[in-house]
Amino acid sequence: MNRGDVILRPSPECRLPIERPDAPRLIEIGFGNGDFLVHLAQKRPDALVYGIEVSHTCLEKALSRVKLHELENVRLLCGDARFLVRECFADNSVERIYMSFPCPWPKERHARRRVTSEGFSGSLASVLQVGGVFELATDEGWYADEVAEILGAHEALRMADRKLNHRRELTTKYERKWLEMGKDIHHLYFEKTALWSVPRMVEGSIDDMHVRISPAIPVSLELLNETVTGQTGCARGRHGEDSHWAFRGGFAATDGTLLEETICSDSGYEQKFYLKIVERPECTLVKLDGVFLPYLTPSVRFAIEDAARRLQKR
Ligand SMILES: C[S@@+](CC[C@H](N)C(=O)[O-])C[C@H]1O[C@@H](n2cnc3c(N)ncnc32)[C@H](O)[C@@H]1O
Repeated sequence: MNRGDVILRPSPECRLPIERPDAPRLIEIGFGNGDFLVHLAQKRPDALVYGIEVSHTCLEKALSRVKLHELENVRLLCGDARFLVRECFADNSVERIYMSFPCPWPKERHARRRVTSEGFSGSLASVLQVGGVFELATDEGWYADEVAEILGAHEALRMADRKLNHRRELTTKYERKWLEMGKDIHHLYFEKTALWSVPRMVEGSIDDMHVRISPAIPVSLELLNETVTGQTGCARGRHGEDSHWAFRGGFAATDGTLLEETICSDSGYEQKFYLKIVERPECTLVKLDGVFLPYLTPSVRFAIEDAARRLQKR
């Protein structure tokens, strides 16, 4: 079993490899050490089980478990589930989504970090199949109430059940910890009741992510540093995304092309990557450097266009 067969990096267009199209899809958000994910994959050999985690350490732990149990039906994605669930999964494509003991971020100033904040209910309503279920386990009563209110208010979701101290077949690492401390465990189940869709922020293809400056302008590191580096910008994406970008530093690559370190954010989802400035006889190209390609969000497009504009205005 190869690492690359289990840990998937979606394409810049947020596409996942097409495989077993008829298999049911299950997702676990924030799988931690991977206990529950492995249990799920063993119980549902008919399904493809996707785990989404921000922590690289957790990803490696889960990969070891998946290899140990020789599970062919697990796929791991690294990143923020709020972005990846919406952008990588099609409408009506997921049977069930599990999230056990997410950090509730109790301070009000951290509320935006909660997985269930802002657009999450729309994403769930979009990717779940009608009749599909989102299952949440939490040790915080106030958080369970908040999620019940937010998700329950969505017109395509209904809270199908809420249980206190229900015992699932497998307890997760955090569940065991909270049980030992004598805490109550809240289980919430939301069912999708009607078709729903949300706009995706990733649009277009990698082939059109460049700006041609024609005729070619001679670009030097000095010019890049004078016109682009240190500049920032902001704009609204087509679907109202709050997009920001900043140019962090120009470098000359060994092959003579120029690179600009760029940081972008779309409604709080951050990415870092390099823009590449290439001089050709007929034009100068501003494009994405291929070593680490970002997802094609509005801010990435804005940044490419802005860098090209600034270079042309020299
Ligand atoms: C408290 S742990 C719970 C782990 C596991 N589910 C359990 O019950 O033992 C929360 C997990 O969610 C992950 N996480 C936090 N925010 C996330 C996000 N936005 N997307 C994906 N994973 C996230 C963290 O890295 C962490 O592993």
